[in-house]
Amino acid sequence: MTNLSRRSFISLASLGALTSFGGHFMLKAHAATPVLEVYKSPYCGCCGSWVVHMRDAGFKVDVTNLEDLDPIKSKFGIARDLQSCHTGIIEGYVIEGHVPAGDVSRLLLERPAAIGLAVPGMPIGSPGMEQGGRKDPYQVVLFSATERRIFARH
Ligand code: CU
Ligand code: CU
Repeated sequence: MTNLSRRSFISLASLGALTSFGGHFMLKAHAATPVLEVYKSPYCGCCGSWVVHMRDAGFKVDVTNLEDLDPIKSKFGIARDLQSCHTGIIEGYVIEGHVPAGDVSRLLLERPAAIGLAVPGMPIGSPGMEQGGRKDPYQVVLFSATERRIFARH
């Protein structure tokens, strides 16, 4: 849906004309606000802080707590050296670890052919990993099964 048609959809909806259009428009409206599904350990504080960071940035987040995240990491093809604490899925992309919300937005705009983004490990100063004013430099990696490139540096 283009921005223009989204705007006219919203104004139609606010006029109460929505019901006459049926389920088709409802589906499109739903697709405009993708949900970020997050798999994390119930005991992980930094994962929860990252979820807050994403919600603050306007993302809709569904959280699933799991004792064992290994099956998720292997299901989505996240190599061991790319892994972090939590795994997010949005619009078919994997968001592994403490990836800044701005990079996720950029990914969804650019839509490169890739599995997704990863911030390996848990760098101090990344979103959800704040420790005072300390900020360790880190990279956001765009990865597929066979290729990797640096998507952003922070
Ligand atoms: Cu973490
Ligand atoms: Cu986490």
